[in-house]
Amino acid sequence: MLDTILRNCTLADGRTSIDIGIENGRIVAVEPALAANAAETIDAAGQLLAPPFVDAHFHMDATRSYGLPRVNRSGTLLEGIALWSELKPLLTQEALVERALAYCDWAVAKGLLAIRSHVDVCDPRLLAVEALLEVRKRVAPYLDLQLVAFPQDGLLRSAGALDNLKRALDMGVDVVGGIPHFERTMAEGAESVRILCEIAAQRGLMVDMHCDESDDPLSRHIETLALHSQRLGLQGRVAGSHLTSMHSMDNYYVSKLLPLIEEAGVAAIANPLINITLQGRHDTYPRRRGMTRVPEMLAAGIPVAFGHDCVMDPWYSLGSGDMLEVAHMGLHVAQMTAHDAMRQCFAAVTETPARILGLEGYGIAPGCKADLVLLQAGDPVEAIRLRATRLLVMRRGKVIARSAPAAAALELPGRPATVDWRGD
Ligand code: FE2
Repeated sequence: MLDTILRNCTLADGRTSIDIGIENGRIVAVEPALAANAAETIDAAGQLLAPPFVDAHFHMDATRSYGLPRVNRSGTLLEGIALWSELKPLLTQEALVERALAYCDWAVAKGLLAIRSHVDVCDPRLLAVEALLEVRKRVAPYLDLQLVAFPQDGLLRSAGALDNLKRALDMGVDVVGGIPHFERTMAEGAESVRILCEIAAQRGLMVDMHCDESDDPLSRHIETLALHSQRLGLQGRVAGSHLTSMHSMDNYYVSKLLPLIEEAGVAAIANPLINITLQGRHDTYPRRRGMTRVPEMLAAGIPVAFGHDCVMDPWYSLGSGDMLEVAHMGLHVAQMTAHDAMRQCFAAVTETPARILGLEGYGIAPGCKADLVLLQAGDPVEAIRLRATRLLVMRRGKVIARSAPAAAALELPGRPATVDWRGD
């Protein structure tokens, strides 16, 4: 007798009429017409069952602070950074924890059960670090929160940042972050990458840097990140976030760069919602999109995830923790409208970031954790098209969120009584 069986699921790989057997929080069977009984049986009615959404790039210390202490009037990256500096001295640990927990509630309701969040370590009090370590502990039963020590004001540019970063890692922050393009010079940026990769190698940690988040085609810190990843044997443990300068780089240089990134085992994390709004701000027209070269990196064998980056904070007023909205924007900005490319956009908010974060037991196969999302859609492309309703969200085999199916009642003579926007 199993704990739960989900019957008649469609999977992202196209398999239909699949039953999922769950016991002790793990998946024990994935097959058609599973011959077993369970304490609870759930009829998936042919809807798409996916592993949970994963956000590879977020800022939980800033989320839901929109309007504190004022709104970003220009909507630019630089005013956002200035605004964050105004907000930092006003932060309290209680308010930070409360806002982060409230965001995690939104995330869970959207089937987003793993988040890598950068946390600013430039405040010598490390108040945000303490707050998010507390949040990581409190949400652990329902959400995997991975923290990155992020020297927002520059590792070398901001006094004390290196010591603060090491203290944050000592306190239990998981990943080494950086922001080389924000250091005083290109040379100092490269030096910060070397220092940070060596810290990660010494401590056996992963690396995830904000890297080249600008429209400057000569911002090439990703090259240095690949070099030190290779040199220190960090393959598979390093990610470059944003990489927006690559949008503006010379094509010949990119043709040399991409194989080096691939060879170094460095992953890329684009943030479509934020890149399309914050980049290209110094252009007149034509105005650059600013997102990194996603299809080209995928073709070169580089794993690419899409992150949310911001929700209702000094940099971005919108968002709700919906990774399908992120995938939807990524698909459009990168013009990934080929059939396989649309499916890659779904992978960019599910299995690819799960690999980048190193999540254990992720997926839909016997032995995986029973962390699952039932979507009101027939396949991944329809899920993106509709930003599909999360009918059920499961963690370790227990339902932790439910939503009513989306539908509208029509009052049109001779037409159907309801529509749900499904294509079948
Ligand atoms: Fe970021």
